[in-house]
Amino acid sequence: MSDDVTLPAQQGSASASAPSEVLLKVAGLTKHFPVYGGFPIKRKVGAVQAVDDVDLTVGAGESVGLVGESGCGKSTTGRLITRLMEPTGGRIEYAGRDITHASRRQLAPVRSEIQMIFQDPYSSLNPRQTVGTIIKSPMEVNGINPKGGRDTKVRELLELVGLNPEHFNRFPHEFSGGQRQRIGVARALALNPKLIVADEPVSALDVSIQAQVVNLLQKVQQELGIAFLFIAHDLAVVRHFSQRVAVMYLGKVVEVGDRVSIYSRPRHPYTHALLSAVPEVSTIDEPEDRERIRLAGDVPSPILPPSGCRFRTRCWKAQDKCASEVPPLVRIDGNHEGHLTACHFPEQPTTAARDEDIVLDPALTALEDTGKD
Ligand SMILES: Nc1ncnc2c1ncn2[C@@H]1O[C@H](COP(=O)(O)OP(=O)(O)OP(=O)(O)O)[C@@H](O)[C@H]1O
Ligand code: SF4
Ligand SMILES: [Mg+2]
Repeated sequence: MSDDVTLPAQQGSASASAPSEVLLKVAGLTKHFPVYGGFPIKRKVGAVQAVDDVDLTVGAGESVGLVGESGCGKSTTGRLITRLMEPTGGRIEYAGRDITHASRRQLAPVRSEIQMIFQDPYSSLNPRQTVGTIIKSPMEVNGINPKGGRDTKVRELLELVGLNPEHFNRFPHEFSGGQRQRIGVARALALNPKLIVADEPVSALDVSIQAQVVNLLQKVQQELGIAFLFIAHDLAVVRHFSQRVAVMYLGKVVEVGDRVSIYSRPRHPYTHALLSAVPEVSTIDEPEDRERIRLAGDVPSPILPPSGCRFRTRCWKAQDKCASEVPPLVRIDGNHEGHLTACHFPEQPTTAARDEDIVLDPALTALEDTGKD
């Protein structure tokens, strides 16, 4: 199947490349899930601090990557932004409008403008509905009647995402994983959204198909001028897609910046660790001599996160201050404008900050040694 996407002329937009106005502004966003215990009477005994005081912006037509290990709060952030979940605290502004606690009725005018694409294309599509019905239903629910009718629009969308418009009456199981994700993209596009939150849209796909779907999303983003929050668990997937990247660790954004800053001048030790796992990362300043960093142990529990800097239990630079003071997310010395880092003792702005491998997990070293014999 071809990656090429042919856009109907009227849908193209030249305004995609220069994000000027802020479309989405998130400030202090927090989601704590209560944890209940006790017998016979259950009471709240704690909270999963899934998202804690997150600030984030997405410009109109801009693509922003949100990256971090499993469980760090990426999906929860996406669900809060799309208002599939109610935040515990903070503020979500969309197009200058406070939607943090907006009711269904209040949300109605913007509901169609913010869409979500999910990780598992199969479970997010109703297996008993035809592709035509699946793509058409958001238009029906929102009372949208495009010129030429809904069926024509569905066929246009199928073509737009690289599927055969004649497959209108087929069911999801008759498509491959990559094709199903294309159906998910077509459904998200049905309402002409301005912002798409894509939650690991390619993680469930074969590696060979991932690039095709990323290319499709990139074309959609650039040519239709749609803003994206692209969620991924590693920096490799969003490398070519995102103009800016936010790195998340245990519920907090620890570093955010434009692509060059994050991939070539990272400052937060966690970003260094994530980057060291990206094969063949192309850097601008130092293309070679990257260190490999293996992080020791698992991510700590979000129910009882470490005091001060949440990364300190796995950080090779941690000092006493890291346990007592939460590092603010700020522009530190040496950072370009818009490049913010939450760290008391940041790394040098280079991907070759150290010339030796750092292997923090002795169990991994032992395993590797065994493998060599
Ligand atoms: N409904 C819920 N109730 C309680 N805890 C939850 C709920 N949803 C998520 N969590 C917890 O919140 C934390 C963040 O979860 P989230 O799904 O946002 O992480 P993620 O970064 O998307 O992870 P993954 O990469 O595995 O998808 C996890 O510890 C998770 O167990
Ligand atoms: S604040 Fe301290 S523990 Fe946290 S990343 Fe920076 S050096 Fe490491
Ligand atoms: Mg997730």
